[in-house]
Amino acid sequence: RIAGPSALVIFGVTGDLSRKKLMPAIYDLANRGLLPPGFGLVGFARRDWADQDFMQVVHDAVREHARTPFRETVWQQLAEGIRFVQGTFDDDTSFDNLAATLAKLDEERGTGGNHAFYLSIPPGAFPQVINQLKRAGLAKAPKENPEQWRRVVIEKPFGHDLQSAKQLNRTVNDVFPEESVFRIDHYLGKETVQNILALRFANQLYEPIWNANYVDHVQITMAEDIGLGGRAGYYDGIGATRDVIQNHLLQLLALIAMEEPVSFRPTDLRAEKVKILSATRPSEPFEETTARGQYTGGWQGGQKVPGLHEEGGFAPDSRTETFGAITCEINTRRWAGVPFYLRTGKRLGRRVTEVAVVFKRAPHLPFDDTATEELGQNALVVRVQPDEGVTIRFGSKVPGNTMEVRDVTMDFGYGHSFTESSPEAYERLLLDVLLGEPSLFPKNDEVELSWEILDPILDFWAKKDLPQLEKYKAGTWGPPSADAMTARTGRHWRRP
Ligand code: BG6
Repeated sequence: RIAGPSALVIFGVTGDLSRKKLMPAIYDLANRGLLPPGFGLVGFARRDWADQDFMQVVHDAVREHARTPFRETVWQQLAEGIRFVQGTFDDDTSFDNLAATLAKLDEERGTGGNHAFYLSIPPGAFPQVINQLKRAGLAKAPKENPEQWRRVVIEKPFGHDLQSAKQLNRTVNDVFPEESVFRIDHYLGKETVQNILALRFANQLYEPIWNANYVDHVQITMAEDIGLGGRAGYYDGIGATRDVIQNHLLQLLALIAMEEPVSFRPTDLRAEKVKILSATRPSEPFEETTARGQYTGGWQGGQKVPGLHEEGGFAPDSRTETFGAITCEINTRRWAGVPFYLRTGKRLGRRVTEVAVVFKRAPHLPFDDTATEELGQNALVVRVQPDEGVTIRFGSKVPGNTMEVRDVTMDFGYGHSFTESSPEAYERLLLDVLLGEPSLFPKNDEVELSWEILDPILDFWAKKDLPQLEKYKAGTWGPPSADAMTARTGRHWRRP
């Protein structure tokens, strides 16, 4: 579907996200013919820029980061709808100027009075901007044109804990009704994440064994090889758990564990996610079921890399974790007794995100003991990135005169099976905002439920009497307590 007449306003256009993701995604959408010809793109920032300067910034971002080839005609058409409004969040005139710019754009480009406001700014500034949008009459369609739409797009962090998340939701929902709020969790825009639904609900093969009778445990890993150089300002005080587990990993858990939705309509899909998140609890005791740490210097891909505190920006006594791991249990008939292990970290062994469903051993093995020494547990691994696909691990006879069984894998790789290329997550999500298609955006209650799961762990970690944060060397797979966490039940993390 092609987006209808509309304009997108980005607050925070000088930030990294805008330059690396949003601007290129807009161009890619235009290039694929998915934006209306008169589309408008408005930047709002403090810089003393004219439209031309902003246009140049967008141009450079597109040239550097767009996925699709640069085509002058597409660019020219997009560029004609680019405007810049210079202003600050506390200044009423700036927002009145924005309103005037949008009204003019509606006239000149036929954007139809349909406006999406993308808040790519620190969450502390949300209330101010949202109230300014209201004050300037930008948050609601005018009475005489009720068919026009106004939407707001917000980026995480969606609060710092349950209480602040609720407060944030109230602030946003006071001005924008929930159906006009689009919270970005870019993992939900990834092709491989959406494929979890197809894998589970389009096939007969997996669903019968997708439960506690057959599944031993589930591991969700999002490992990054990059460090935090330059991001300390955002990250110190937030940490891996709030940055990634609260959103991306709990959303993955929901998709893996939820029941079949009645349909893929947004209300039905999100109802199932809410249900499963309501049944999810962090496993205790937290001393044993969680782990966290900070990276120190080490080697990565043959290169020496600095530790967190050598990179600068972090308070020397910062207790912010760069690695976090938790165990969850899901109190439903389907999942009772199956641990869900979630981990994420910076500067780990390699960049990889995957979900591994690890199955129980066969109840009986009619082989000599020595024949199955190298047989592990069956596993289905959804490879979210970078090597997108699905792997199934199972035992197979080793060729030869004796009966010996060893693990082998069966692989599906996107690159081998499809010629179609996947759109970038932001491309898909931005298009959905313009189409008003909310399925891939977490609702206020999903966000609050995620915090309900994490708050007890975060409170426990915040207790002063705990020893200093554990360290792990860059290029490894996290602190020793992460291994201890799974080992206590005789399990172990995969080395992807
Ligand atoms: C973001 C986190 O949400 O996801 C970052 O804030 C992280 O810390 C990023 O680096 C990773 O995204 P991706 O798509 O590269 O896995």
